[in-house]
Amino acid sequence: MKLRGFIPFGVGLLVALGGGWFAVPRAMYRRTEQPIQFSHKTHTSEKVGMSCQDCHSLSADGKFSGIPRLETCAPCHTEPQGKSAEEKRLVDEYVSKNREIPWLVYARQPENVYFSHAPHIKLAGIKCERCHGPHGSTGRLRSYEQNRISTYARDVEGYSLVKLNAADWQQGMKMNDCSHCHQQRGVQESCLTCHK
Ligand code: HEC
Ligand code: HEC
Ligand code: HEC
Ligand code: HEC
Ligand code: HEC
Repeated sequence: MKLRGFIPFGVGLLVALGGGWFAVPRAMYRRTEQPIQFSHKTHTSEKVGMSCQDCHSLSADGKFSGIPRLETCAPCHTEPQGKSAEEKRLVDEYVSKNREIPWLVYARQPENVYFSHAPHIKLAGIKCERCHGPHGSTGRLRSYEQNRISTYARDVEGYSLVKLNAADWQQGMKMNDCSHCHQQRGVQESCLTCHK
């Protein structure tokens, strides 16, 4: 092929690849921003000094508290702690109106999947990062992405196809991520272990 013929071909190929790589996922997933830009980094920093358990804990009967309710935030945020616009919004729109913050859960599983934190955290001693990745040390919240058709959150949907090395298996919450660990640790499972 002559160079002059190759240039338009090459450009066309790049456009097609780029389209497939970027445009298809964009079209497939609806992106929503979280109601408030919450920073885990700020709250677990030395200055504020909170630990994960202050906001996410297991009660004695094994129930996981999940995302903290407004009553956890209110004691500190009735009066502004700083000057950020985001904190002002937190106080004006939620704390002073006593309105719960409608957080979006990246790891939310579909209705037919059963999952409980207690056996994983307490009995098996698995770290949060193993499933959630570095979320607990991030300074910003990324967009929540949801498949327009299945309505599943992008973080849990489908199969993890590309896991190039062992470290890549250290996070993720798709069905084969769950099963991979169960197999490694000799946990007996059938479809009905997770699907009720
Ligand atoms: C001041 C309270 C607070 C502290 C302390 C805190 N969190 Fe959170 N956490 C939140 C709030 C609020 C959310 C909901 C917003 C979000 O997704 O970050 C959340 C969400 C999460 C989620 C997201 C679940 C999902 O899939 O949407 C994970 C994982 C998490 N926290 C882990 C941690 C870890 C690990 C630590 C300790 C290093 C920690 N958190 C400390 C308040 C807190
Ligand atoms: C122990 C006190 C304390 C608690 C409890 C607390 N915060 Fe904060 N928060 C702070 C401090 C201190 C700052 C830093 C203010 C600054 O320097 O701008 C802050 C900052 C913020 C900001 C501003 C942006 C940022 O991260 O710097 C937001 C939004 C926020 N907090 C949300 C929350 C929410 C939501 C909760 C409940 C899940 C919560 N906070 C619980 C003390 C607290
Ligand atoms: C074995 C994997 C795994 C581990 C370990 C794990 N989580 Fe989760 N987490 C999940 C799954 C799966 C969900 C979604 C649950 C659902 O939709 O029913 C979730 C949901 C959450 C939520 C959202 C609220 C809720 O309860 O649905 C928070 C907050 C959270 N996890 C924090 C943590 C923290 C903090 C730790 C460490 C103490 C942790 N997780 C350890 C898998 C895990
Ligand atoms: C890093 C390893 C690991 C990952 C990842 C993991 N699990 Fe598990 N899971 C375990 C272990 C270990 C046990 C056995 C705990 C025990 O009873 O000692 C278990 C037990 C279970 C059980 C039976 C216990 C019960 O609640 O009755 C269910 C259901 C389960 N896991 C669902 C899931 C789902 C769904 C996911 C993915 C979202 C998942 N697990 C991811 C390690 C893991
Ligand atoms: C270790 C827990 C676990 C076991 C065991 C398990 N699943 Fe799943 N399954 C999940 C989770 C988590 C999801 C949701 C995330 C996803 O779509 O991958 C899911 C989703 C699915 C879906 C929907 C897939 C999609 O993309 O819409 C089907 C179908 C399914 N499972 C069938 C099965 C069958 C059949 C078996 C038995 C051979 C089985 N599962 C065993 C955890 C499990």
